[in-house]
Amino acid sequence: MSTTPHAAIPATLIPGDGIGPEITEATLRALDALGAKFEWDRQVAGMAGVNACGDPLPQACVDSIRRTRLALKGPLETPVAGGYRSSNVRLREEFKLYANLRPAHTIIPGGRYENIDLVLVRENNEGLYMGYEHFIPIDGDPHAVGMSTGVNTRQGCRRICRFAFEYAISHGRKKVTVVHKANIMKALTGIFLETARELYEKEYKGRIGFEEVIVDACAMKLVMNPWQFDVLVTTNLFGDILSDEIAGLVGGLGMAPGANIGEHAAIFEAVHGSAPDIAGKGIANPIALMLAAGMMLDHLGRQDLGDRLRQGIDDTVNVDKVRTGDLGGTATTAQFTDALVKRLAG
Ligand code: NAI
Repeated sequence: MSTTPHAAIPATLIPGDGIGPEITEATLRALDALGAKFEWDRQVAGMAGVNACGDPLPQACVDSIRRTRLALKGPLETPVAGGYRSSNVRLREEFKLYANLRPAHTIIPGGRYENIDLVLVRENNEGLYMGYEHFIPIDGDPHAVGMSTGVNTRQGCRRICRFAFEYAISHGRKKVTVVHKANIMKALTGIFLETARELYEKEYKGRIGFEEVIVDACAMKLVMNPWQFDVLVTTNLFGDILSDEIAGLVGGLGMAPGANIGEHAAIFEAVHGSAPDIAGKGIANPIALMLAAGMMLDHLGRQDLGDRLRQGIDDTVNVDKVRTGDLGGTATTAQFTDALVKRLAG
């Protein structure tokens, strides 16, 4: 998608729950300082949706994204074990946002790992997150047995693997690693591996490298030698877990952005959640959501602005040494944002 340079782009803004509103305001300030013009349609979802209108995914929010096809979203709270179904998962289903793109790039040198540059591509609509779950009551225990059914389709596997191969080639990457557990879950993740192999043999062999790795070994290899990987593609649950692990390689969740991409809409967000333990204290790291906004600018064909934003963040943490607590600094969200805005405006 490309746009005329100065037209304000209509987009839905969901500040979200917990630290969401704090990091969203910080991100808007950064975008303003960049001169990136958006015509925001503010909407609520998650707990904010429940509080405002008794619905974790209000129809107005869905309608807004249907109109704009583009959203920047703060984290949404989901009750654990019971309560309403995740609004994030529902949004991904509603707009068929089948590709979850989660890049991880070292910004601050001197951490546990240097020079990390990995991209995880996670299937976002199928697998074990489809919510086909129930309990079987036995002898008066309503939760005597918990059951879950995962579903992966040939079409869904092909679509996400194609996305990963195309992404890798168009971004000058060297290799795609397909992550699976086909030795045990022979149908559910077997179909994923089989489809990846077939697609590679037919269409991508010779254009990009390819390898296979079992998910448990992958988790270990990421810790031992993450540099051996480049682009990883995997099913929904494994992708969710591995992307948090990968975020840990580059300084934690405060540094990890994500994009949910479908054929007709895209939603950009941080990988992290609403961080209720630090919400309202003004100390959250807004970088992950800012990097997500950078991915949104790239998606809109404004990589020039995305690059300026990323460079500004880099200079703020590395040259000015202004960092929030999760990065070992003492800056508040506002102090970090002030420093970044000064960089972007300068
Ligand atoms: P979390 O990601 O919110 O927090 C995990 C830990 O990381 C906490 O100690 C938190 O303080 C810290 N952290 C996260 N983001 C941070 C930031 N920007 N700056 C500094 N520290 C940060 O995960 P948790 O606690 O498991 O989930 C809380 C809620 O968020 C749950 O309701 C969960 O369902 C929801 N969630 C929503 C997501 C989304 O909207 N995409 C993704 C993950 C969780």
